[in-house]
Amino acid sequence: MGSNGERVAVYPGSFDPLTNGHVDIILRGSKIFDRIVVAILENVEKTPLFGLEERIEIAREVFKQQSNVEVDEFGGLLVDYVEQRGADVIVRGLRAISDFEYELQMALMNHRLNPQVETIFMMPTEPYTYVSSKLVKEVVMLGGSVSGLVPKTVERLLRKKRASS
Ligand SMILES: Nc1ncnc2c1ncn2[C@@H]1O[C@H](COP(=O)(O)OP(=O)(O)O)[C@@H](O)[C@H]1O
Ligand SMILES: [Mg+2]
Repeated sequence: MGSNGERVAVYPGSFDPLTNGHVDIILRGSKIFDRIVVAILENVEKTPLFGLEERIEIAREVFKQQSNVEVDEFGGLLVDYVEQRGADVIVRGLRAISDFEYELQMALMNHRLNPQVETIFMMPTEPYTYVSSKLVKEVVMLGGSVSGLVPKTVERLLRKKRASS
């Protein structure tokens, strides 16, 4: 519980870029928790297509009507950030068996690092099961349409990136 008795969850990720799969998890999560913090990882391993500021701006724009969805950046140890934010839950999405092994390792490691923090997994709703930031980027860069799979702003920005690449 947060200091004011709020139940706060952190949804961490690269969000490079935000997809409707992410949006779906965030909106559903925002009904379960008092507040959900979308925590955008600053130091992504590979160079991200969208810079940190861009990724933050996109998410703030998409969730501007949702007063209990907050967008922030984070670096360093996730469990430390979670504690800092007065949260005690990490939300992650589980799409397929292929997500499972890595997510299990992360959840167990985070539990070991801070047993007060619980990781909760949410399944995607069916239409977004196969949607990933990586695939979306590949399709757009090859000239395909991802309409309906990402927010409109993201679609527009992706097309701009393609035009300038
Ligand atoms: N289409 C989707 N449906 C449900 N969850 C998703 C979807 N796409 C990604 N996720 C989940 O959202 C979280 C953040 O994903 P991502 O931005 O790829 O960051 P990371 O680099 O941590 O994997 C992860 O838990 C991932 O499994
Ligand atoms: Mg991922």
